Amino acid sequence: MIEKLNLTNSNKLYNEALELIPGAILGIRRPYNFVQGEYPIFFDSAKGGRVKDVDGNEYIDMLCAYGPIIIGHREEEIDEAVIKQIRDKGFCFSLTQDCQNVLAEKMRELIPCCEKAVFVKTGSDATSAAVRIARAYTERTKIIRCGYHGWHDWCAEVKGGIPQKVYEDVYEVHYNDIEQLEELVSKMPDEFAAIIITPLGHPLADKVQYPKEGYLKKVKKIAENNGIVLIFDEIRTGFRVSMGGAQKLFGVTPHLAAFGKAMANGYAISSVVGEKKIMDVLVEKVFLSSTFFPNSLAQVAALKTIEILQRDNVLENVAQKGKTFGEKLEMIVQNSSIPAEISGLPWMPFITFKPDPEKRYRLYRNEFYKYLIRSKVFLQPYHHGYIAYRHTEEDLTYAAETVAKAFNYLESF
Ligand SMILES: Cc1ncc(COP(=O)(O)O)c(C=O)c1O
Repeated sequence: MIEKLNLTNSNKLYNEALELIPGAILGIRRPYNFVQGEYPIFFDSAKGGRVKDVDGNEYIDMLCAYGPIIIGHREEEIDEAVIKQIRDKGFCFSLTQDCQNVLAEKMRELIPCCEKAVFVKTGSDATSAAVRIARAYTERTKIIRCGYHGWHDWCAEVKGGIPQKVYEDVYEVHYNDIEQLEELVSKMPDEFAAIIITPLGHPLADKVQYPKEGYLKKVKKIAENNGIVLIFDEIRTGFRVSMGGAQKLFGVTPHLAAFGKAMANGYAISSVVGEKKIMDVLVEKVFLSSTFFPNSLAQVAALKTIEILQRDNVLENVAQKGKTFGEKLEMIVQNSSIPAEISGLPWMPFITFKPDPEKRYRLYRNEFYKYLIRSKVFLQPYHHGYIAYRHTEEDLTYAAETVAKAFNYLESF
């Protein structure tokens, strides 16, 4: 095993933060969610596909801020557009600036279900707003969900501090299990307002799943036959798997969709888009407003990001890089005796270890991701990674070679 990294400054900051911030760091960024003993790592700066920590260690960043970084860190053209907006115009006003319309027009041009759009800040804002819109439109209460949709009361995984009545009307189904969905809807056919589902399956800590043949079409049929609004949660897939999201890639158009993460290469913006007749409940019936929602900086960043994605065929390049990288990973796993799987290709590579009765997979997972981080490849044990446009061939070759070495190392257990 290679040597542990020097994390002196990170540890110092972590201990300081323990006194200042409950748990030192919020939620999924805590050390237990990576490899205990090998983290905490406080990051200092990033450029392109790489990130540096406060001790000067430089990593290939394959988590990409959990998805927003589609092009790369500190992409100059985007940052310049944002700086120009700050210098020439300003961005935080009591009323709305014109780039709202330009961005909405762009979304409408690209996303199949988009007749109208609204802009909010986070993925949780967008999924929660979509659910509220669907409830208002159908005048029903119950929701069916499938996947992670954020931290808000109706869908948070950890229920502390949330009254049961807020989520008791929310039912969860498994991705790709059409019978389960059919059965649930048939029990209460007139009661569901929405089915909200990630069009690509990426359940918590589990491998990424493609839709089974005809699955998304059947989900849409069930929704339409029962007067239910179908919402695609495209927070991870939007502006990553295709310019029109997974709905465009898989050829199934939902009634509403939530976009976020990659749409502005790291700037905080998300969006609910959908059919005019449904979205128009926002005209009078539904209230959606926040001080920072119309803030134009992220809108400018989104416009520039989308311009680059289109101009430079970024998503094709990302998919091609992911494919080449993924083929190497698959070869490594095939040639190894360690029971592992690769999923999420080409955009969201995830290396998982097959559960076994002796729970050796936990040891493999721990040792494997320990080896990776010590080798300066930043990937998450419980979450798929991402490929960015600025990952160089050299970066991805190094990452694949490190994965191969790590699998070799696992053979010694
Ligand atoms: C599919 C999906 N939906 C919603 C969210 C919530 O987004 P945010 O963390 O920006 O609130 C996430 C975040 O990871 C997500 O992956």
